[in-house]
Amino acid sequence: MPAIQELIRTFADRKLMIRRSLGELYESIREFFVATDPSGQVIGCAALHVFWDDLAELKCLAVSERAHGQGIGRGLVEACVDAAQELEIKTVFTLTYVADFFEKCGYHRIDKAELPHKIWNECVRCPLFPNCTEIALVRSVVIEPEFVTAGLDHATNLR
Ligand SMILES: CC(C)(COP(=O)(O)OP(=O)(O)OC[C@H]1O[C@@H](n2cnc3c(N)ncnc32)[C@H](O)[C@@H]1OP(=O)(O)O)[C@@H](O)C(=O)NCCC(=O)NCCS
Repeated sequence: MPAIQELIRTFADRKLMIRRSLGELYESIREFFVATDPSGQVIGCAALHVFWDDLAELKCLAVSERAHGQGIGRGLVEACVDAAQELEIKTVFTLTYVADFFEKCGYHRIDKAELPHKIWNECVRCPLFPNCTEIALVRSVVIEPEFVTAGLDHATNLR
């Protein structure tokens, strides 16, 4: 988590992301995916935070500058969407300043007002609230019936 905190800090210093305390990060440790280089150093991170049975947020996406442009950001987005699919969550949203990147990853822009009120809990604690210029985007997650069946088959095989 210190490596994730440091990665986020490099962008938070430039007001591109929200700074996160270590306590906050450890509380959400199970939500994180990381990308590492061959020596095991963290070079990318993203988290999927579940809000409800049909809604999750992709947050804390960051890729170390030395690793930009290699598909790592897209890979982290896909890891979060796969996790949402596994949980059968139909919609993943994000609030971001890099809307063009998310559009390339299958998201589309929506009006922030379309997001349910419960997601603003974190925002009201942010120093930028209510004048933040982040853009809201959503991506629909395809819930495949075969996915559920495959899981059941596997469970049967284990028995
Ligand atoms: C945004 C970020 C995660 C992208 O990571 P990355 O690993 O460089 O991105 P990828 O290599 O996976 O790029 C995937 C595609 O998005 C494009 N892309 C990358 N960054 C982009 C940006 N800032 N704006 C628009 N398009 C972008 C790439 O060109 C690539 O397009 P292609 O498929 O047509 O070739 C990274 O630049 C970053 O960490 N930025 C600072 C932190 C930040 O803003 N995080 C988002 C907070 S919500």
